[in-house]
Amino acid sequence: MNHLVSPSILASDFGNLQRDIEMLNRSEADWIHFDVMDGMFVPNISFGFPLLDVVKKHAKKPIDVHLMIEDPDRYIEQFAKGGANGITVHYEACVHLNRTINEIKKLGCRAGVALNPHTPVALLEDILEYADLVLIMSVNPGFGGQKFIPNTYKKIRALKKMSTELNPDLYIEIDGGVDQNNAQQLLEAGANVLVAGNSVFSAPDQLQAISSLKIAG
Ligand code: DX5
Ligand code: ZN
Repeated sequence: MNHLVSPSILASDFGNLQRDIEMLNRSEADWIHFDVMDGMFVPNISFGFPLLDVVKKHAKKPIDVHLMIEDPDRYIEQFAKGGANGITVHYEACVHLNRTINEIKKLGCRAGVALNPHTPVALLEDILEYADLVLIMSVNPGFGGQKFIPNTYKKIRALKKMSTELNPDLYIEIDGGVDQNNAQQLLEAGANVLVAGNSVFSAPDQLQAISSLKIAG
């Protein structure tokens, strides 16, 4: 499959959110990444339902919701009804992950599982065939603009190997410190969705920054 690019609006200009979403609509971006942080699972608070309404109102592309929150079961229905096309929960935040994945799918959304940098991909063995997507965090979640952790490459290769056997259609999404310099290597390792916050929104030419992530591979 051709790889996808999912710019993270965490790095957008909230004072000009409509403008930034319209830029994404015109761009080669495939999805719009929406980072929700609760100040508990991660040491930061970002945004929630009112902002999702704004994004939904203007976006012409699927919304890729990444829940960095504890006990996400409490909110998945509200995110699905609010317009999420995909919902990714953290492995570390779910006690009954199989049930959570089933619920997300039942609500008509693509179901994703995210792993923190310290969580081995081997722990996914018994959930992989049920998930649509695995998001590998390549920074510690909570903030945009952090430095990419190189151990990620090893994790992508291991996950790619598992998915070839258990779920060949799996989306392998990489989130944190992704830019024009590491995109190629990430795709070669087996990634097929690239999340990018600062490397897109801090670029002098944002459309060009997205294009260069699409051209990679
Ligand atoms: C971090 C978020 C990321 C973040 C990525 O906790 O999950 O999606 O927006 O931002 P960059 O690309 O700037 O590292
Ligand atoms: Zn994210």
